[in-house]
This record gives sequence, C-alpha cells and structure tokens, in this order.
Amino acid sequence: MRSLFRSKQLQFSTTDHIKHLHSPSNKLGFGIRTVVTTSRAVLLPRFGSADVLEVRDDVRVPDLKPNEVLVRARAVSVNPLDTRVLMRAGYGRSLFESLLPLILGRDVSGEIAAVGHSVQTLKVGQEVFGALHPTAIRGTYTDYAILSEDQLTQKPATLSHVEASAIPFAALTAWRALKSTARITKGQRVLVVGGGGAVGYSAVQLAVAAGCVVSATCESESIDRLLAAGAEQALDYTSEVISF
Ligand SMILES: NC(=O)c1ccc[n+]([C@@H]2O[C@H](COP(=O)([O-])OP(=O)(O)OC[C@H]3O[C@@H](n4cnc5c(N)ncnc54)[C@H](OP(=O)(O)O)[C@@H]3O)[C@@H](O)[C@H]2O)c1
Repeated sequence: MRSLFRSKQLQFSTTDHIKHLHSPSNKLGFGIRTVVTTSRAVLLPRFGSADVLEVRDDVRVPDLKPNEVLVRARAVSVNPLDTRVLMRAGYGRSLFESLLPLILGRDVSGEIAAVGHSVQTLKVGQEVFGALHPTAIRGTYTDYAILSEDQLTQKPATLSHVEASAIPFAALTAWRALKSTARITKGQRVLVVGGGGAVGYSAVQLAVAAGCVVSATCESESIDRLLAAGAEQALDYTSEVISF
C-alpha cells in the first residue's frame, strides 16, 4: 500500500533493557510495573551529515514526570525537520549546541509501556501515536520515547504503526495553519498549494472534514488521491497555468 505521506518510516525491532518491579498501583495490588532504564537510540553527538549519527544500545531513559508517557516505539518517521538542511545540520544551533547529544525524531507510533502518576486518559498497553514539540531534545529515534499525555492519542486500529507514525507532525502543522492561523469555517473555499505533499495532503483532508470546498495544486500523479480525499479540484501545476 502506498504510504499516506512522503515521510520515510523506520520500524524497530530491538533488544529491550527492562526490569520489572512489583507495584501496588493496579486495582488488585499485584500489578507489574515496567521500568525501562536504558534503550537503543540514534544519537546526534555533533551537527553534520548522516555519518555523524550513532546507534547506541545503552542510552539512559529518564524517569517519567507526572504528565509523561513512556511509549515502546513500533515505528517512527523521518521528518524534513530532522534531516540534512535542518536540525541534523545545525538548524537551531544556538539553542541546541550546548544540549548535544540530541535524539532526533518527532513522530512515533507504538504501545504505552508506562505512565506518569497524573496521566488520566491513557493506560499501559494502549496503542498510541503522536508527535513531540519541535524543540524537544530527546526525540523519538529510540525504542522508548517519552511524550506528554497531550501529545499522544489512541492509534486507530485501521492504521498500521508505520502509517500512523507518518501522520502527526505534518498533520499538526496543517491543523495549526488552517485552524489557528486561517481559522477556516464550514463553507469557505480553501486553496492548498502543494496538496500532494505531507502537509498539503493533511490540509486537504482537514479542510474537507471542516466542511470547506477545497482546491489543491499537485503533480499529475497526485490528482486521483486528492479527489478521493474530497478535494473539489486538483490542478496539475506542471501542465496548467494557475493564476490567483
Ligand atoms: N512536514 C512537516 O512536518 C513540516 C512541518 C513544518 C513546516 N513544514 C513546511 O511545509 C512545507 C511543505 O512540507 P512537506 O513536508 O509537506 O513537503 P513535501 O512533502 O515535500 O511536499 C511539498 C509539496 O510542494 C509541492 N511543490 C513543489 N514545488 C512546487 C511548485 N513549484 N509549485 C507548486 N507546488 C510545488 C510538491 O508537489 P509535487 O508533489 O506535486 O511535486 C509537494 O506536494 C515546507 O515548506 C516545509 O518546510 C513541513
């Protein structure tokens, strides 16, 4: 099946470094709470090309804060933010240099391994997907990612972990543009430039779901996909002169 977006996805299968502790936290008082102390991760020790990335097996997993959730990653996606022109190469250097080594990666899909004590809406074992904030320095390229409760939601059963991991960061970018900036409302006409891309394809679907009448530009290969997603028009910018 064609990937939903253009982000590249990685799937992990790993050796876990887990110790199990008996905890009185479940209803019966005999629950097993999983505490992960170290995990595999891809570290960025300095800015540069892909060659500087290091896979380590024993990266410490910090303790959870009350609102945080430990996610056993089943798939993560590679966002342009993480790659050569941006964070890996030194984008945000003044902010991040003193914090190296970083773990890159924004998106994750997986199962909840542990929750902080104030987490209300998610529970251990649940399948979830979500995205970290752009400035997070412990990213998702690790077997055990830590996100806050409000950065995760239940993964639909109809999506694989690979598919789900390609969605959140790009879709939230589209959501913010449409809802917070453009403040779209039902019945408005919306034009999405670059409707075939990760952000654009999300924007088309979100605008259609909000009841807007959507036109999009794209290459010819994306036209059917955009019309199937509910766009009223999909215009091939490589063969039509489009003026606004
Ligand atoms: N991905 C994210 O999470 C994210 C987050 C924040 C900001 N952004 C920004 O959002 C923008 C889109 O990112 P993306 O990840 O969606 O990129 P993408 O997947 O590469 O999509 C870019 C889109 O732009 C279209 N395009 C390229 N040249 C064009 C042209 N000359 N005229 C019209 N359309 C053209 C492409 O169309 P074809 O496919 O038809 O070639 C493609 O659909 C970028 O500026 C990115 O920096 C992205």
